[in-house]
Amino acid sequence: MEIKQVCVLGAGTMGGQLTQAFATAGYEVAMYDVADAFVEKGFNTIKSGLQRFFVDKGKMTQEQADAIVGRIKPTTSLEDGARNADLTVEAIPEILDLKKQTFQRLSEICRPDTILASNTSSLSITEIAAVASNPSRVIGMHFFNPVAVMRLVEVVRGYSTSDETVQVIKGIAEERLGKETVIIKDSPGFITSRMVNVIINEAACMLQEGIASAEDIDKAIKLGLAHPMGPLELADYTSGLSIVRDGMKYMMDEFGDTKYRPSHLLVKLVRASRLGRKTGKGFYDPAK
Ligand SMILES: NC(=O)c1ccc[n+]([C@@H]2O[C@H](COP(=O)([O-])OP(=O)(O)OC[C@H]3O[C@@H](n4cnc5c(N)ncnc54)[C@H](O)[C@@H]3O)[C@@H](O)[C@H]2O)c1
Repeated sequence: MEIKQVCVLGAGTMGGQLTQAFATAGYEVAMYDVADAFVEKGFNTIKSGLQRFFVDKGKMTQEQADAIVGRIKPTTSLEDGARNADLTVEAIPEILDLKKQTFQRLSEICRPDTILASNTSSLSITEIAAVASNPSRVIGMHFFNPVAVMRLVEVVRGYSTSDETVQVIKGIAEERLGKETVIIKDSPGFITSRMVNVIINEAACMLQEGIASAEDIDKAIKLGLAHPMGPLELADYTSGLSIVRDGMKYMMDEFGDTKYRPSHLLVKLVRASRLGRKTGKGFYDPAK
């Protein structure tokens, strides 16, 4: 099956970058979001990013950048964006019910052979696929931020995902987008989110127990285990405290195992709106 037209849903942090990646690989891309302001912001971010990081640095000609932008059609109509798509890639908020409603709607709009992919970081592809008219064409395609730099795509196979769907998505990720892939059976948090949530949560437990300072926990993991960032600074940098809390709760419910219980300190910091960099404070208070 040849994929020519792609529809990316969501023009936020990931949707904008995915739109750019697919358009750079030569696909025609409709970028859909719910309001003009979001679509315009996403589109302008792509245009200025191509100029600043590629054209101005001599990595791309102005003509190449213009051609990429020319392949992108911003839209606030899901019908217009998805009707002729061979592949849709969903990058809307990490809310299961919202994703299910959206996949149901996509099933009504798209051809039955259109592949419906989700960029969810941890939610069940099987459950999202269950609302689609053709669950064999639903798959997880989990990219990492920043998309242009991070080499991995987790390809997540739901209960009903067909071999052909897996092969098409693996082929696009590797051959057209230049990524490495891993193929995973649907499981909460897949490989990467499950691991990173547990590492950050465990660091929060250590901080709560008072066995070391935040600085020393991060220093130990960086120098002793050769991680590029410590878990606490990583959580602050990505403003990820509520994402980790929600991810741990989801894994605790899904696996039925209290080893995934979010640390009390993590829960408390989220309640205090200390979510990380975007709220100013997280595990660290930069003013101190
Ligand atoms: N941010 C990351 O680092 C990252 C990395 C990998 C995966 N993800 C996953 O990607 C998805 C999107 O995350 P994000 O960080 O880009 O979020 P974001 O909040 O930056 O963007 C989400 C966008 O979706 C739009 N939106 C909301 N409801 C919509 C709907 N019904 N239809 C279409 N668009 C809608 C919003 O207006 C917003 O522009 C989530 O599932 C997240 O778990 C995020």
